[in-house]
Parts: sequence; C-alpha cells; structure tokens
Amino acid sequence: MKHIYQQGTNPSAPVLLLLHGTGGTERDLLPLAGLIDPSASVLSVRGNILENGMPRFFRRLAEGVFDEEDLVFRTQELNDFLDQAAQQYGFDRRNIVAVGYSNGANIAGSLLFHYKDALRGAILHHPMVPIRSVPLPDLSGVPVFIGAGRNDPICAPRETEELAQLLGGAGAQVTVHWEAYGHQLTQTEVQTAAAWYKQLFPQ
Ligand code: MLT
Repeated sequence: MKHIYQQGTNPSAPVLLLLHGTGGTERDLLPLAGLIDPSASVLSVRGNILENGMPRFFRRLAEGVFDEEDLVFRTQELNDFLDQAAQQYGFDRRNIVAVGYSNGANIAGSLLFHYKDALRGAILHHPMVPIRSVPLPDLSGVPVFIGAGRNDPICAPRETEELAQLLGGAGAQVTVHWEAYGHQLTQTEVQTAAAWYKQLFPQ
C-alpha cells in the first residue's frame, strides 16, 4: 500500500498508524502524530480505493452504507500490510496504535472487529460501526479513544454509543469524548486524544 514511514527516536514507543478520511492522503494526519508523540515512529497509509478520485480504505454503496465484502477484504489487506511493514522496517508488530479519522477510523475499527492482535490501541475520530455481522475478538485491555460530534450528520450519537458498547463488550477500555460540533476534527478533540494517549502510553 502507498505509505510514508518515519522512524522515531524512541524504539519502544508504539508505532502510530495514521489513516486518513475520504479524499485524504497519507500526508493529512502527520501533524497529529507530532502532537500525540513526537518520538514515535509513524506509518501513514493511503487507502487503496478511489471513489470519484477520492482515496478511501474500502468501498461504500452510498453515504454511510458500506460494501461489507470489500470492507472485509480491505481490512485483511491492511492487516497483511502491517505484518509486512513491521518486517520491512523492523518494528514490533504488536506495538501499533492506530489514529484514524472518519473513513480511516472506520477501517481501524474494522481491524479491531476482525483481528485480535491487530492493534495495541486506537484513537478513532468520528468512527461508525464498521460492520454488524461479526463476533468481535477478545479485546481485553485494548484502549480505544472515540471522538464524536453531538451534531455529526454522518455518525449519529446513538451509533457512537453502539460502537462504544460493542468494543467495551469485547473487553476494550473505551473512552468517548464528545464535541458539540459535526463530523469535523476539532483542535480540542485532537488535544484531548493526545492527552489520553500520553496517560495510557507514557513516553
Ligand atoms: C465512511 O467511511 O464512509 C465515513 O464514515 C464517511 C466518510 O468517510 O465520508
């Protein structure tokens, strides 16, 4: 997959896996990594799908209606890519924390839904429930930050609550942060996520 890898100065810090929103690229979330942990290595990936020229991580049939077959396929593709990148760059495959926004948060959520050890933790900015038909693996002890908007037209608050319940039911340690706004990523949400991260993964 097209990506950027930046070697960090702290080899024991988690590798930050950055996953952009629809129409974004692997450059979009690089500033977030600097805020979360400037000493961490960064693996920022571009989604393999193009929707009218806009990169995405999986196909959708309509706004908010996912192509589940493609979602499952693309989730496996990303998981396999993470195995390969860990070998290529020599980092610990079990020490990856995802940071995703919107479509990127949805594929990160799908990694959690499908694979037990895909991620050590995740920051999900404005995620949806990626799929409803799969039993979740044991996610005991996996910390997940969810940033959501009370007025998000793409992800209604009840879907955020459903996602938190599904992940929490599988054992994940879920923190939900609410903003009063819509689907956009706000500075306070980003800062709250960075503070959450620093508490859970002390540098
Ligand atoms: C999606 O994955 O389709 C998102 O939730 C919405 C978007 O990326 O625009």
